[in-house]
Amino acid sequence: MANAGKLIIRPMRTTDLDRIQEIERASFPVPWSRSAFYGELADNRFARYIVAQRQDEVIGYAGMWLILDEAHVTNIAVHPKARRQHVGETLLRYLMAYARSQGAAHMTLEVRVSNTPAQRLYQKVGFAPKGVRKGYYTDNQEDALIMWAELSRFDGRVDCSADERTSSGESGEQRGRKDELRGDE
Ligand SMILES: CC(C)(COP(=O)(O)OP(=O)(O)OC[C@H]1O[C@@H](n2cnc3c(N)ncnc32)[C@H](O)[C@@H]1OP(=O)(O)O)[C@@H](O)C(=O)NCCC(=O)NCCS
Repeated sequence: MANAGKLIIRPMRTTDLDRIQEIERASFPVPWSRSAFYGELADNRFARYIVAQRQDEVIGYAGMWLILDEAHVTNIAVHPKARRQHVGETLLRYLMAYARSQGAAHMTLEVRVSNTPAQRLYQKVGFAPKGVRKGYYTDNQEDALIMWAELSRFDGRVDCSADERTSSGESGEQRGRKDELRGDE
């Protein structure tokens, strides 16, 4: 595991998916499948996914849906051997700045009530708990904490987009599909 060297943030590519699967399986009790990621990259015009890479090795990733003025974080994970080096924080701040640059005013996510490391990360970058979704996680019926952040303090001068897809509004179908991907943010 490369722990030294420059951290590069770039858009996720389909060629990253084998490595993403490794990290995903090491990070979540109910990992997203390869095809779930592929669908996000190939078919979801609301989705933006980025990876963190050091010395040619992907060590983390994060993604969101950008819908009008709202960004919804769908996934974030860092390889266990690369944790506590501010990789997750860098990915999240990048998503926040990029969302802001695309006109999003708010960002939201769900996190397991037991997931203290992730909650600490979210609080550090400005998220606050605003509600609970009872029994949200299907594997153990754990509750989800719903957190929100205001993006107004980010200057938005970030370009991590491989193309210039635009969002035009989230349908009920779109929101439902995110929950099906894992139900585990
Ligand atoms: C949550 C996760 C992405 C954090 O990534 P990371 O790169 O290790 O986190 P960072 O090093 O960027 O930490 C940033 C801040 O978050 C907090 N934090 C992160 N991990 C923590 C831990 N284990 N315990 C306490 N605080 C923690 C700290 O405030 C830290 O800042 P500091 O180091 O200056 O104190 C990582 O633990 C992970 O992949 N977990 C498994 C997947 C997951 O749970 N994803 C979130 C789903 S909602």
